[in-house]
Amino acid sequence: MEIISGYNIVKDGEHSPVKDFAIERTGGFAPQVGIVLGSGLGTLTEAVESPVIIPYSSIPGFPAPTVAGHKGNMILGTIAGKRVAVMDGRFHYYEGHPSTVTTLPVRLIAAMGVGTLLLSNAAGGINSSFEVGDIMLIKDHISFIPNPLIGPNDDTTGPRFPSMVDAYSPRLRDVASSAAARLGIELKDGVYVAVTGPSYETPAEVRFYRMIGGDAVGMSTVTEVIAARHAGMEVMAASLITNINNPDNPAPADHAEVLEAGRRATKRLTSLFTEIIANI
Ligand code: HPA
Repeated sequence: MEIISGYNIVKDGEHSPVKDFAIERTGGFAPQVGIVLGSGLGTLTEAVESPVIIPYSSIPGFPAPTVAGHKGNMILGTIAGKRVAVMDGRFHYYEGHPSTVTTLPVRLIAAMGVGTLLLSNAAGGINSSFEVGDIMLIKDHISFIPNPLIGPNDDTTGPRFPSMVDAYSPRLRDVASSAAARLGIELKDGVYVAVTGPSYETPAEVRFYRMIGGDAVGMSTVTEVIAARHAGMEVMAASLITNINNPDNPAPADHAEVLEAGRRATKRLTSLFTEIIANI
């Protein structure tokens, strides 16, 4: 068996370690919804009923996360009566992982046969009407991170040239908007600009990202969305605006500020995601 471009794509139709794991080691548990947690949604793990915790360290091919505030567990169980696979911890390009590795949690979710993927992240606001604590439903993206599908295509997963039109499911965005309205949570929407990081943006870069149509900027999510769409999953993603990047009055963003904003918003985000899951 020859493994190509980071564990997940395997020649000659043989299973990758991740697929084998999904089939053999999750005991036939067939999640309906996959969730990838970013900063601010950690407490969604506490909403999982009958949880079975599988450390990333026991999943073949998964590297250990390296960033404070990011854990490394897959949690299987139920939320609002739906079977879920929650990925508590993700891999970032800035950690030195190639894009193929950043998609491993999503590949595992896809390999378990999940049809719906929800993602969250922390992002810096670049739309001048945004405030810290806002939740932005992602409607589209612009990516400066290498595409995770570069390399030989796994035709058993999806097409060579997958469409990214409506990558963020209009149906799920409606479900999210209705859920937010029921809970009295205001939702913004916008375009997520994915950058490699780990340095934060210069004021000139923020002006550029605004000019090309960006509303928020972050260092994750898009490679995962591309892999999920390639595998045919329906996707929804939301950004918690943890800091504001104002190029006309620039102030250094810092990671502690991002984590603190996440902690403050965690209840709101958790109830929003729970309500979305209930209504998918
Ligand atoms: N820029 C990039 N990524 C981020 C930011 C930011 O300002 N805030 C949280 N993640």
